[in-house]
Amino acid sequence: MVRKFRIENHHRKIVSKRTLLKALSFIDAHPQMDTPVLLMDKEKILENVSIIGKEIKGSQVFYAVKANADLSILKLLKHQDVGFEIASEGELELLMSLGISPQRIITSNPIKSVPFIQKAYQYGVQYFAFDSLSELEKLSLFAPGARVYVRLAVPNEGSEWPLSKKFGVELEEAFFLLQKASQTNLKPVGVTFHVGSQCLNVYNWYIAIEKAKQLWERCKENGINLEMLNIGGGYPINYTRVAPDIREVESQIRKFLKEKFPSRTQIFIEPGRAIVGNAGIMVTRVLGKAERNYEHWLYLDVGVFNGLMESLGGIKYTYITEETSKSSPCKKWIIGGPSCDSMDIVVRHVDLPDVEEGSFVLILSAGAYTISYASEFNGFPIPKVVLI
Ligand SMILES: Cc1ncc(COP(=O)(O)O)c(C=O)c1O
Repeated sequence: MVRKFRIENHHRKIVSKRTLLKALSFIDAHPQMDTPVLLMDKEKILENVSIIGKEIKGSQVFYAVKANADLSILKLLKHQDVGFEIASEGELELLMSLGISPQRIITSNPIKSVPFIQKAYQYGVQYFAFDSLSELEKLSLFAPGARVYVRLAVPNEGSEWPLSKKFGVELEEAFFLLQKASQTNLKPVGVTFHVGSQCLNVYNWYIAIEKAKQLWERCKENGINLEMLNIGGGYPINYTRVAPDIREVESQIRKFLKEKFPSRTQIFIEPGRAIVGNAGIMVTRVLGKAERNYEHWLYLDVGVFNGLMESLGGIKYTYITEETSKSSPCKKWIIGGPSCDSMDIVVRHVDLPDVEEGSFVLILSAGAYTISYASEFNGFPIPKVVLI
């Protein structure tokens, strides 16, 4: 039986036609599949890799493994011209198991465990971020000679998933830390920042680059010659709205860089969401429906705990439902996940047509920060990844 989905014009703006068609034909070929499943379009990942960094000459791209650490994706990326940004021993072990060379790995997590530093250093990883004296001491003890870069605090205004609250220091402190680093056995090489994930405000990069430039100059005046600027991740993808195109974002960033930094500066970019996000379509099924206090509830087999965690922080997905036997107008639904916890509410008041129990619901742009955040709370499985 060929399943029929209600595909509307706005869906076509969110996800590429090819990715959607591939997902639909996979479902047709596997109508009895266990759900939830995360279908990942290989070609889309490769296309993203081929676009990112191209507008910024001489830049090096490091995939932020946290976005989706599934082995099949890492294997695919192993054969591309990208490096990897990692935060933990677990992520390092995945890359080591694939034989990915240490020259392709950096770690921008400013606070790392000693075993992680030791393991990464012994493996040959050279680049480590920091933003505190105590981290500097750890790096000096357990990664002598390593190349270290400081994390600056920068505005995250207009980013749907802000990352400014936990890490990053102001300019004065950053300068002090780089100066301290220069007095140790470490090599202070640069600056990093993160403008916030799903950043819809290109001006954030402008302010961040300007701030990094001030730090750069301050270091130069004091005999510390930096060479690397890591502009972090943050490139946006389409969820319910069409996000700025990566090429446009990068051409703006290129202009900012040209204005502020000499051409020989090494630029690192560490995108996660923009490499895998729009390649993923989550295939879920309707577990049940209910009317509560005159509101329509729809329960899916994936929820906040086993894949859609980012919905708690405000990421809103686009859904495609299956056609029902009778045509039904859209109504406002509250979508809940499968668990018994009342935190497990994915979205309130989303417009969708009526659906039948057991029917498929597709969630678009679900490739990033879904399975990597997921737990098996309440015994509900984490979606398996299938490359299509
Ligand atoms: C240090 C660091 N680099 C890169 C990323 C990837 O960011 P994005 O997925 O927004 O591109 C993150 C995300 O949390 C991060 O913390």
